[in-house]
Amino acid sequence: GATRHYKFDITLRNVTRLCKTKSIVTVNGEFPGPKIVAREGDRVVVKVVNHVENNITIHWHGIRQLRSGWADGPEHITQCAIQTGRSYVYNFTLAGQRGTFWWHAHASWLRATVYGALIILPKPGVPYPFPKPYKEVPIIFGEWFNADPEAVIAQALQTGAGPNVSDAYTINGLPGRLYNCSGKDTFKLKVKPGKTYLLRLINAALNDELFFSIANHTVTVVETDANYVKPFDADTVLVTPGQTTNVLLHAKPTFPNAAFLFAARPYATGQGTFDNTTTAGVLEYRNPIGSGSTKLPLLRPALPSLNDTAYATNFSSKLRSLADARYPANVPRTVDQRFYFTVGLGADPCPANQTCQGPSGTKFAASINNVSFAFPSTALLQAHYLARSYGVYTTDFPNNPPSPFNYTGTAPNNTFVSHGTKVVVLPFNTSVEVVMQDTSILGAENHPMHLHGHNFYVVGTGFGNYDPMNDPPKFNLVDPVEKNTVGVPAGGWLAIRFLADNPGAWLMHCHIDVHLSWGLRMAWLVNDGALPTQKLPPPPSDLPRC
Ligand code: C2O
Repeated sequence: GATRHYKFDITLRNVTRLCKTKSIVTVNGEFPGPKIVAREGDRVVVKVVNHVENNITIHWHGIRQLRSGWADGPEHITQCAIQTGRSYVYNFTLAGQRGTFWWHAHASWLRATVYGALIILPKPGVPYPFPKPYKEVPIIFGEWFNADPEAVIAQALQTGAGPNVSDAYTINGLPGRLYNCSGKDTFKLKVKPGKTYLLRLINAALNDELFFSIANHTVTVVETDANYVKPFDADTVLVTPGQTTNVLLHAKPTFPNAAFLFAARPYATGQGTFDNTTTAGVLEYRNPIGSGSTKLPLLRPALPSLNDTAYATNFSSKLRSLADARYPANVPRTVDQRFYFTVGLGADPCPANQTCQGPSGTKFAASINNVSFAFPSTALLQAHYLARSYGVYTTDFPNNPPSPFNYTGTAPNNTFVSHGTKVVVLPFNTSVEVVMQDTSILGAENHPMHLHGHNFYVVGTGFGNYDPMNDPPKFNLVDPVEKNTVGVPAGGWLAIRFLADNPGAWLMHCHIDVHLSWGLRMAWLVNDGALPTQKLPPPPSDLPRC
């Protein structure tokens, strides 16, 4: 493959949205950031130079980083932040993967403005397993805050309250015409009648799962998280934060001069606050003969209601691997280590000298198996590589929740979490099964769990409490969907399997940024294997130190 060089200058830039101009952190002054397009097998080399006061790192979401864990990017996990005036070169090979990925800042809430598409095309001469589209278009959903996103989360952590919601959802950085002052800030997709378009949907929103729909059009879902799926048609697509989904849009042959709205708004299972406004774009047919003007009223799509769990569940159940000779589903058939994780919200006590605005006067927190993961003061991967865990992490992450109780019943009196930098150490090539149970202790919310460094197969899911006797026999080991981010249903559970074949330190976390900030995160340390090709190489010399 080729080597592709990029330079990411982290700079401030004034951007106007919703009639307000503010200075935001960007890459190369672009918002959304630059699109990277490469081919399977290529090497990507990105020099990130930090010209702003904020500490930053960049993560390549969904890229496996096989034996290149130093380039993964999450702050405190694989590196310390790139400080003002410093730089770091991310250097990695796109091995065995192709599809829609994205990159984003992985420090504080900077990813609100620092994100972009990362497209990996198949190797030359390798076709898609669906008809070749006429054009490919990234559609990136985001959230716009009139305030400084880092200040929003800092204040929430201080007061213990939920953070202020964003002021708009966006499509490719634009709120769209349903918002005030945003008629001109509307993403337009011009299509030719009769042609097929590949829409690469990326949910870069911080805190919301989104329903996406195009008026009068059905799309064909063909890929999710850069893994091909058995094609199926849908009026509405559900994309959770962190996920990507490719759909084919078949432009109608019979609308030579018409326009339709497409729109996205949250799927919000919890009863917490959410912004229920809608981002919209315009699908515009080009009149092949001439005028091109759009006089017809814009038809709006019918989106499922905000709490339409039935739609969300049905949509997710249709995602199945191709599982054919060319794209087999390599689901681990046997399991070396089983884990049972509760994921959910909890609380911290309010400090004596303070009033807190979280549940019953406490501070909001979040945990896995009741452990709210504390970021270490140095990067986890460095400590692991140097075999110096002392004072950085402990290896006693609980394999089971502290005390079994009915996770879908009434909340226990004590919702307090514990804190620690606890990790799970896995021998190289361990095949792992993780059952994740949503606890619904404080409000029911779907948690889009993201695993770094690996893909996993979703072998089972259900509502209520996981039943270790009766649920495993129903697991799908034939064509389960392969993903890097998946929503654990509110008041339910989900089981994944993966092979720990990538030495390094890998974060697993909820991709809802407020939950991540509250501590809904943990880390796996995957040891080196015996062969030279199974070892993590030494860190690059410019790795940012703490
Ligand atoms: Cu897309 Cu750890 O993140």
